[in-house]
Amino acid sequence: MKTPRRKFPVRRSPSRELAELRVRLADTEEMLRAIRTGEVDTVLVAGNDGNQVFTLQGAEHAYRVLIESMNEGALTLTTDETILYANQCFAKMVKCPLEQVMGSSFCRFLSAEDRATLRPLVKRADKFGSKIQVLLMASDGSQMPVQISIRLLAQNGFKHAPVGLVVTDMTEARRNEEMLRALTHRVVQVQETERGRVALELHDDITQLLCAVLFRSQALVDKLSARNGPAKKEAMKLREMLGQTAKEVERISRNLRPSVLDQLGLVAVLRDTSTEFAQRTGVPVKLACVQLMARLPADTELALYRILQEALKNVEKHARARHVTVRLTHEGAFVQLVIADDGIGFDHPAKRKGKGGLGLLGMRERATYVGGALKIKSVRRAGTEIEVLIPLPPVATAAIR
Ligand SMILES: Nc1ncnc2c1ncn2[C@@H]1O[C@H](COP(=O)(O)OP(=O)(O)O)[C@@H](O)[C@H]1O
Ligand SMILES: [Mg+2]
Repeated sequence: MKTPRRKFPVRRSPSRELAELRVRLADTEEMLRAIRTGEVDTVLVAGNDGNQVFTLQGAEHAYRVLIESMNEGALTLTTDETILYANQCFAKMVKCPLEQVMGSSFCRFLSAEDRATLRPLVKRADKFGSKIQVLLMASDGSQMPVQISIRLLAQNGFKHAPVGLVVTDMTEARRNEEMLRALTHRVVQVQETERGRVALELHDDITQLLCAVLFRSQALVDKLSARNGPAKKEAMKLREMLGQTAKEVERISRNLRPSVLDQLGLVAVLRDTSTEFAQRTGVPVKLACVQLMARLPADTELALYRILQEALKNVEKHARARHVTVRLTHEGAFVQLVIADDGIGFDHPAKRKGKGGLGLLGMRERATYVGGALKIKSVRRAGTEIEVLIPLPPVATAAIR
């Protein structure tokens, strides 16, 4: 807050007085500009009876109404976190009378861990602001997830400028996030069960049936003599097409639920999938896998396999890549899978405003479900890299070493 001072003039020579009046006029003009632009809300005028304080009520009143009607907590703090001012909404959030909130330390509403995170942000607060998410502890012991925006309030390098906080209740946002997570997880689970069911039906019914038809078409070819030249040729073609169809059905069934994964493990299935992809699409895949001495947990193996499958599907569908690299490594107690392509790249998912399907979402969900994390790095015209990091249980970690 800027607080200009006024001094009564002292009698001087006419020319000095004129110069002084000019200075005062410029000064007054500057103050009027500051009042108009809202830089000043209090004016201190020095008079014979001492200083007089003029509050520019119009401007201040509007700010107060705005802040008190906010649905968010608003506070000003000193840099050592003493609360100078808080609105009613914040008092309600912490279930504490406003008069007990003001003058107390903001720290009392945070856990020790959150205090340590907030402290440097308040100390180094600037006019650009920063944000953190913490748990606000109310006076009755209840907790509320909140986001705190921190910003230095004064401009022009004021020495003891207050820090402004806006505290937003994130309960609803967290609940929505959790619901979305649960829903995505359910989608992935249903997808997995359905894939298993279809794979079984394809394998047990369709493949068996195709084999029987293939067998009979072979018998037909054998029965037809050379005299039935065109018919025999047709029967041979039919047998060939049936053979291809059986292979394709087998491939689809394997992708739906690969028996190789159950029988031979992750590295074998990563190799199979990469080879099949390279042969079918003509895009070479460079595969580098760490030696695994023991099987990883079944959930982790399935998640990594599905993520590779989905990532390769995206490369085929969208990337226009010339090369793909697949790398399985272990970093300490983590297993890491990276799938990189040198294709056209794409904008960050957050910028895509709901465009795109469930693929990336499903990949992230699969990684999160087994306690891991998924990072997507994509640069337009340079390519895309999907990195999955999954923690391993101590037994599996020991077996890898
Ligand atoms: N490797 C990639 N190269 C280029 N674009 C990609 C790649 N992977 C994903 N994308 C982009 O991200 C979008 C979302 O992918 P995804 O969630 O798998 O949905 P879908 O493949 O069904 O469109 C795609 O539509 C595509 O534009
Ligand atoms: Mg996709």
